[in-house]
Amino acid sequence: MANFDTIKGFAFDLDGVLADTARFHSQAWRQIADELDIPWTEALESGIKGIDRMSSLMLILNSKGVADNYSDEEKEALAKRKNDHYKELISTLTPDDVLPGMHEFLADLKANDLKMSIASASKNAPFILDKLQISDYFVGVVDPSKVKQGKPAPDIFAEAAKILNLPPEQVVGLEDSEAGITSINDAGEISVGIGDALQLHAAKINFPSTKDVTLAQIKAHLNW
Ligand code: G6P
Ligand code: MG
Repeated sequence: MANFDTIKGFAFDLDGVLADTARFHSQAWRQIADELDIPWTEALESGIKGIDRMSSLMLILNSKGVADNYSDEEKEALAKRKNDHYKELISTLTPDDVLPGMHEFLADLKANDLKMSIASASKNAPFILDKLQISDYFVGVVDPSKVKQGKPAPDIFAEAAKILNLPPEQVVGLEDSEAGITSINDAGEISVGIGDALQLHAAKINFPSTKDVTLAQIKAHLNW
């Protein structure tokens, strides 16, 4: 049974947890989907969360059963075009784009000597942390190109615990995606889901929004 006193570190997803960037991923993919005449659905909107760039493209193409119509080169070109557009969108980020409550939460963790790392599938994570001016909070950032499998596999969150130099059971992972919650749970960490509680029902603790996430609330849930 997890008790708060055993917790020594926190592994953060980035997009949709710390940074208000999930909307930019969605916007950039939606433009590609429109061009390819693929209808944008709720399932795509939530399904692309947490999964890597090429897996997101495959999800979109497969939603209309057209993945085989594109060569590997064409798929690479589509993914690159999405990323170029996404990079344009994130170039405008400022510290104000840290999601509500997260500045305070990071400061509180730091004040309590709890270590933090970043467990994002995004290759753009270091750039975004820099734009938000929160890089200094983190001991390290998982490089998603160096892990075997992306989310929902446990690799990214397992690596985030290694960066903290902690066994997984001493780490809390925070996520806004279903794929990410599976990754945290299978890595043996304590999962905190932020967003729709039905969709993120596999999380140990749920918060409707980032502004509800506090150290005191997490402590209360774990010591219940
Ligand atoms: C995050 C987002 C996903 C995105 C992935 C890869 O996990 O939630 O929507 O596909 O990162 O991001 P990248 O910036 O490398 O394309
Ligand atoms: Mg996310």
